[in-house]
Parts: sequence; C-alpha cells; structure tokens
Amino acid sequence: MDYKAEIERLKRELPVTVVAHYYQRDEVFEMADITGDSLELARRCKADDNPWVVFCGVGFMGQSVKVIAPEKRVLMPKIACCAMARMIDGSYFDDSVDYMVKHGIAKEDILPITYINSDATVKAKVGKMGGLVCTSSNADRIIRKGLESGKKILFVPDRCLGQNFAIKMGLTSCVIGEGECDPKKADIVCFNGFCSVHQLFTPDDVDFYRRKYPDIKIAVHPECDPSVVALADFVGSTSQLIRYVNELDPDQKVAVGTEYNLVHRMRTKNTYVLSSTKPECPTMNETTLEDLYRTLKSIEEGEPINEIEVDPKTVKYANLALERMLENS
Ligand code: 13P
Ligand code: SF4
Repeated sequence: MDYKAEIERLKRELPVTVVAHYYQRDEVFEMADITGDSLELARRCKADDNPWVVFCGVGFMGQSVKVIAPEKRVLMPKIACCAMARMIDGSYFDDSVDYMVKHGIAKEDILPITYINSDATVKAKVGKMGGLVCTSSNADRIIRKGLESGKKILFVPDRCLGQNFAIKMGLTSCVIGEGECDPKKADIVCFNGFCSVHQLFTPDDVDFYRRKYPDIKIAVHPECDPSVVALADFVGSTSQLIRYVNELDPDQKVAVGTEYNLVHRMRTKNTYVLSSTKPECPTMNETTLEDLYRTLKSIEEGEPINEIEVDPKTVKYANLALERMLENS
C-alpha cells in the first residue's frame, strides 16, 4: 500500500487537519498541515476550522487540543504518553501542595504553574487553584505573571525547566525531595520530574565539542539539566532552536541538545547532535505512517479510533489554566 498517497487522498476528502510535533519521524512529520512547538500547536489547532484533528505527538498534546477546543474530535494515531508527564498525577500534585503547607505556606498563598507536559487532571488542579500552564517558549512570561499574584510558585512537573527559568530570571528555587527544600526561602518550588531524553546531555558532551571545535556554538532545550544550560550559547523551545540554527552563518558549527528527529532534520555538515547516545524520544517515535493512515481511514469509515476524551469537569478547570497561558503569551 502506498500510505503517503492514501494519506494525501484522505486529507483532501475529509474535513481533517493533521498536526505533528517536531519530534515525530520524518515520514509522519512531512504529512502534517500544522507543525510547531507546543505553544504554536495549541494556538494553531484552536484557530483551525476543521472539525477533526489527527494529532501525531504525545498524549498531553492531543488532550490539550481537546481541552481548549472541546467541540473538536481529536484522534491520535498512537496515544503515547510523554515520560515526564507520567511522573506526576493528581495525587502527587496534592502531595506537593501538602509539602508546602507543612512548611508554612498557606494553600491560598500557593500559585501552581504546570508545564504543558502534564495530564489534563493535573492541569485541572492547577486551574482550580488559579494557576497557569506554560511551555518552554513562554515560561519566563508565565512565571512573571504568576509572581504578580504575590504568591509562592509551585512548578510542576519538570524540575529542570523550573530551575533554568529561575536562574534566568534571577530567582531562587528548590526541588522537593532533593536536599533541603524550604519553600519559605525559595521563590519557585519545583516538583522532581524530568525528561529522560534531555537528561542524556551532559557537561562532558559540551566540553567534548568545545575541545574538538573551539568556535562551536551549543544550543539546547530548557528541559536539559541546569549544569548543561549554564554552558550553552542558546537555550530555547524547539521552534526557537530551529530559528537560532537557521540564522547562523552556514559555516558556523553548532551542537544541538534536543530530540534526535529534530536535530537530524536541521542537520547540515555543520550541525551536530550534542550526545554520543542517540537522544530518541521513545514515545514520540511510536507513531508510524501506517498508524496515521489507519486513523484517517477510520474517520472515512465512520468508526474513529483512538479518540481523546476528557471528562467535562476536567475540561472546565484545565481550560482555565490553558486559557490563562494563551492570554498571557
Ligand atoms: P516544545 O514545546 O519546545 O516543542 O517542547 C516539547 C517537548 O516535549 C520537549 O521535550
Ligand atoms: Fe516527553 Fe521528553 Fe519525549 Fe518531550 S522528549 S515528549 S518531554 S519524554
């Protein structure tokens, strides 16, 4: 079967928009109508007119579209769960709030911010407490907004993103469960989650490339450990990394610290993967061209598969947190 040709036909004949994150396999990515970083995908899906969305990415991304546009039918060729999003659920979120309360911060004085890489149930808890969602491209703006409330920030689930933006903004942070974390002394209290893919990049990798090519630039995603971010020339979301690399002089060498599919796509003779281990996101790589075809075909046959459902109460509160982000970015 020529999956590409069939996918093109189904896209022409159905009122559907195919969406893909940059970390998708090339053959899937090439089929998409909308691509971008997490913030751009959320915004553009909301503005899109088609009633059907087929989202090639990880679970929280499809869920976020359903939450900000509940009238849409959202299908995912693979409902793959981001490893970081899986590190926190509603009860871990409650435990983090309890930790802060036990350390002298009243619940009404806590302003939670969740990275978009989290389940809708976590976003709903954040929304219910007056909090916001952020992504890697707007975290500084959202944290600044959160600080305007005069409350203490609880940042979940990515400790690296929380710490990296705290450092960038001249704020103090601590991580629950890591050393002594006194919420009274820190501006931002972080949950202890992380991305297993971005943990692969180390200061030794930066050192290796700098010794090999003294003029090389190092560009990394803010999910990398703060020890790596401290050594980088540029830190940004996936879209910001692409722009940075595109604007470099073609002779300028650059080593990029993010997922392999994206780095490989931006690869020229002067672009390097900042790791000796292939930094592949296993869940992003689950989606195949055949999965995309089957999902589109299921719409044509009137029996849609892998539809994203979020209960109305969760939608209501998660929507508050996501909309607060969209209003402030
Ligand atoms: P971006 O929002 O930068 O695309 O990041 C999404 C992600 O999952 C990074 O690991
Ligand atoms: Fe999640 Fe990391 Fe994969 Fe991004 S790269 S989807 S944060 S596991």
